[in-house]
Amino acid sequence: MELKTKVIGHRGAALLAPENTLASIRAAANAGASWVEIDVYAIAEGGLIIFHDDQLDRCTDGQGITKEARPTDIAQLDAGSHFSADFAGERIPTLLEALECIQSLGLSLNLEIKHDTADVEVIVPAVMAMLRDHWHDNDKLMISSFNLAALQLCYDIGDQRHLAPLYEIIPEDWAEQLASVKAYSLNCDYLNLTQAHAKAIKAAGYRLLCYTANDAEAVADHWQWGMDAVITDDPTRFAFLSNQD
Ligand code: G3P
Ligand code: MG
Repeated sequence: MELKTKVIGHRGAALLAPENTLASIRAAANAGASWVEIDVYAIAEGGLIIFHDDQLDRCTDGQGITKEARPTDIAQLDAGSHFSADFAGERIPTLLEALECIQSLGLSLNLEIKHDTADVEVIVPAVMAMLRDHWHDNDKLMISSFNLAALQLCYDIGDQRHLAPLYEIIPEDWAEQLASVKAYSLNCDYLNLTQAHAKAIKAAGYRLLCYTANDAEAVADHWQWGMDAVITDDPTRFAFLSNQD
């Protein structure tokens, strides 16, 4: 897989529409992104939803612990009003709804797996089964996670996925960690990336993606260092890159 874009919409396009909703995915497409990053979360009764937080409170009109919610409860929640009244009634998508929306828009997907460590063996097989049945082009799919155990289970399950360990701070043994899952890329917080890191990551043959940059000036140096793509809440701020794919 070649990364055919330099701009990936974060949680869809979280500055343009309520994060991790179908509206946000559409906003990313309208803003010129050809990839979107979204978070997948396991809930009660085997449900898989697109959501970032452990608690429902910040992004919905509901309350409580996300993983304890039932799909029927989640389906009732308003996930748009917290962003603006224009998005009142926007729902939390299921993973299946998001996969269908993203493919219908012709977008590529960076799916980030969110979970408690204890739940890796629940969410990973369920996500992989859903992708196997409902995602049609593995060249347009990258799976990322802050939890290496989740990616190692993805790797063990197989299916030729492109895997991307996520780091807020790049650990000393990053090379061993990436090798353990035959990683495609290293995805990290641009604030903590050094030129030396970037040089070593690129020399080792990996793609280098950085989150979450909403100011093109802030990552101006990073392109020179070898950054392949930026994950941003507002793809319009990087529109000047759109003809450089
Ligand atoms: O995948 C990049 C970024 O989404 C990781 O952090 O907390 O926004 O999911 P977070
Ligand atoms: Mg994420």
